[in-house]
This record gives sequence, C-alpha cells and structure tokens, in this order.
Amino acid sequence: MTQPSGSVLSLFWSPLCAVGSHGPAGPNAQICLSVLGASIVPARPRLLVALWKGNYTHDLVRASGTLAITVLAEGQEGLLAPLGLRSGREGPKLGGLDCRLTPEGDPVFAGGAGWLRGRVIDAFDLGDATAFLAAVEETGAGEGTPLRWQTAQRTVGEAFLAKWAEKSARDRAAAERAMRWLA
Ligand SMILES: Cc1cc2nc3c(=O)[nH]c(=O)nc-3n(C[C@H](O)[C@H](O)[C@H](O)COP(=O)(O)O)c2cc1C
Repeated sequence: MTQPSGSVLSLFWSPLCAVGSHGPAGPNAQICLSVLGASIVPARPRLLVALWKGNYTHDLVRASGTLAITVLAEGQEGLLAPLGLRSGREGPKLGGLDCRLTPEGDPVFAGGAGWLRGRVIDAFDLGDATAFLAAVEETGAGEGTPLRWQTAQRTVGEAFLAKWAEKSARDRAAAERAMRWLA
C-alpha cells in the first residue's frame, strides 16, 4: 500500500473501499485497499479483508463479526480524508456523510460503484493486521468507475498527501514492530 504507484505491488491494490462496521457507540468506517475475492462458488461468495490492528474499524469488525463494504467510485475522493486520515477512536466521524445503515448497523455510503454486507467466518493474525474472511450475504449495484488509489493520488491535493505521508510514517513504524515476517 505504501509502495510507489508504478510498483508491480501496486497492481494488487483493490479499488478503494469504505469498510464499515458498528459497536455500542454506533457505526464507523475506514478506507481500505486490501480487499480480495476468495471464493469460486457463486452461491457462497467470500472476501478477504485486511485491516490494520490500530484501526478502530478493525476492533469493531472483530467484536461485531459484521461489516459492510462500499466500493468507492471516481468522484468520491472527498471521503478519503474523513474516513482514511481520522480515527473513530477520536470521536464519531460519519457526521455529515451520506450513508445508510444495514440491518446489522454497518454503514453503506451513497454514490459508490457497488456495496455489500458480510459476516466474518474466520480471522487470520498477520501481526500488524488481521485478515478477515467474510461471507458475503447481500450485494448491491452502484454507478460509476471504481476509484483506484493510483487515480485518487492525482486528485486529492497536496494537503491530503502531506497528512497521509505523516500518518503513513507512523503506521509503518508500528507495523514494522508488530508484523509477522520471515524468521
Ligand atoms: C488510500 C488509503 C488506503 C488505505 N488502505 C488501508 C488498508 O488497506 N487497510 C487498513 O487497515 N487501513 C487502510 N487505510 C488506513 C485507514 O483508512 C485509516 O487508518 C483510518 O483512519 C482508520 O480509521 P478508524 O480508526 O476509524 O478505523 C488506508 C487509508 C487510505 C487513505
């Protein structure tokens, strides 16, 4: 994720998603580009979603066992700052954002390229992150072209990129200390 845009590893970035969940204090969501299809059985769709342990959404997904994913569309770059630079640990961050809640209470954002809601089947410890294997229970179509980080980086502006660089440096340092890696 912190690889340069031209890197071969950037080809594995998923479309930018808003991953939402809920807890006793209400719904929350974060930006994620680590979402991968993980089923070949059409009637049993699954996704693998890697969430960093420092994120509030991570803890909500782990505790509630449910999540909702909105695939962001081009034009929704405005969601990246409120959902991707701030933490719900600092207070509610969905105020003023156009979203609805699934029956479980997880937020789905208006205007996305598609959405789904899912339930956690298993969780795999990556050290710095958890890979949640989720059963997809409902999907919905949206409109527009899925937003990719390669594209969004060109339009989010200098102020966003500066804040992102600062936050990434902190997140990377924490990940380096905690991540599972070769012995
Ligand atoms: C472009 C972009 C991509 C991101 N990709 C991921 C990701 O793949 N996994 C992850 O856990 N966090 C990712 N994040 C970071 C979270 O969105 C960010 O830490 C957020 O503030 C967490 O919010 P929360 O603490 O309210 O859950 C990304 C952020 C941005 C801006």
